Amino acid sequence: MTDKREHFASRFTAVMAMAGSAIGLGNIWRFPYMVGQNGGAAFIIIYLIAALLLSLPIFMAESVIGRASHKNTFGAMDTLAPGTKWKWLGLITVASPLIIMSYYSVVGGWSISFLAKSLSFGFNSPDVSSYFGTFISSPWGPLLCHSIFLGTCALIVLSGVNRGIELFSKITTPMLFILIVIIMIYSCTLPGAVKGVEYLVRPDFSKLDARAISMAVGQSFFSLSLGVGTILTYSSYVKKEENLLATGLGTSAFDLLFALIAGFAIMPAVFAAGIEPGAGPGLIFETLPFIFAKMGTSTPILSGLIAILFFVTILFAALTSAISMYETGVAYLIEQKHLKRRNAVLLIFAGCWSVGVICSLSFGPLSGIKLFGDNIFGMLDKFASNILMPLGGILFTVFVGWKMPKSLVQEELSNGRNNRFAKISRLCIYYLIKYIAPIGILAIMITQFIA
Ligand code: TRP
Repeated sequence: MTDKREHFASRFTAVMAMAGSAIGLGNIWRFPYMVGQNGGAAFIIIYLIAALLLSLPIFMAESVIGRASHKNTFGAMDTLAPGTKWKWLGLITVASPLIIMSYYSVVGGWSISFLAKSLSFGFNSPDVSSYFGTFISSPWGPLLCHSIFLGTCALIVLSGVNRGIELFSKITTPMLFILIVIIMIYSCTLPGAVKGVEYLVRPDFSKLDARAISMAVGQSFFSLSLGVGTILTYSSYVKKEENLLATGLGTSAFDLLFALIAGFAIMPAVFAAGIEPGAGPGLIFETLPFIFAKMGTSTPILSGLIAILFFVTILFAALTSAISMYETGVAYLIEQKHLKRRNAVLLIFAGCWSVGVICSLSFGPLSGIKLFGDNIFGMLDKFASNILMPLGGILFTVFVGWKMPKSLVQEELSNGRNNRFAKISRLCIYYLIKYIAPIGILAIMITQFIA
């Protein structure tokens, strides 16, 4: 089995695939407004601390499990702790990325429709502000786009780890950086952009309450695709001789850099247009089209082109993330259930498409179904982000810190390198995994429920 498994060809492609998973809608619509609302640079400092003390250890824990077993999430638990209840963690983490993909692909679908509209220079008209609301509440358009989005993911994953995921990510991830930098340059040179820059960098420590801290941690988890076995699965395609700490640090650095650049691409434009930055998907699907329309009256061609680049960025960022969720389920079905890749891809398509249809309709015909004020889409997002991801994170770190033999973990963390840096770093990471991360995340989870 191990012989037939595919591997990422190099460190570069491994990092591009993982960064592709990490960089997604979370970086574009959540990070910028969270920074602005929660104290600017002060929030970024907390975010960095959370990334280093909590997210990096979970990332490394998932990497260690994936690479030590070279298996899917369930197979990994079954290999490293045969016959124990840990297999349940393996099973849950087969399901959780698929739950996330079901609603994530609905938003991915929206970006297809917006890209189509921008290609026809459709945002250069003043009546765009109602487009988002009308579009998402109509039944057929979003369903069609959701199907196209999921179908595209299916085709990429069907082509396999090397010829599908790796090839797609190594082209797309660098391209996303080029695109977002172009948009940032445009945005920061608009008249009045300075206010947006201030909004992001002005440190306001008075806004840092328990809620802001738990938001920083949650965002860092979501942004790095942690706690649901996606990084575990991708790490299982990393070669034995590769340095896991390098892939972990590389991925985290690219993800953070992209989130920051996205902030400087979006907020200055928002302020230049004189609007209050909204939250949630509305920020990129409502506010920005409005801005493009506004700019369109003075520079129609340029703002039309920027709109196209912007929606291409969103679409491809969402695709590289969604395929990582897809592959987590596919790897399980191929290795544990002995399905052919094609059948595994089809089965997951059918499941996620169906759940996605319900999520998509929850903005229109099914919008009456609500729990604590959230529609079905919102409920799934809260369930995944507030429960599945932190819980998975705790369990992965406990597994590596308390269940796996210390020698095996150390070996995976340093690959036999024995210089001073390797010794110190593997020890630091090990203790972060064993104590700091699980306790820290548990504390944050509790805060979330009472704050
Ligand atoms: N990290 C992605 C983003 O920022 C989303 C994502 C991809 C994800 N894979 C995941 C989130 C797995 C949770 C779990 O948009």
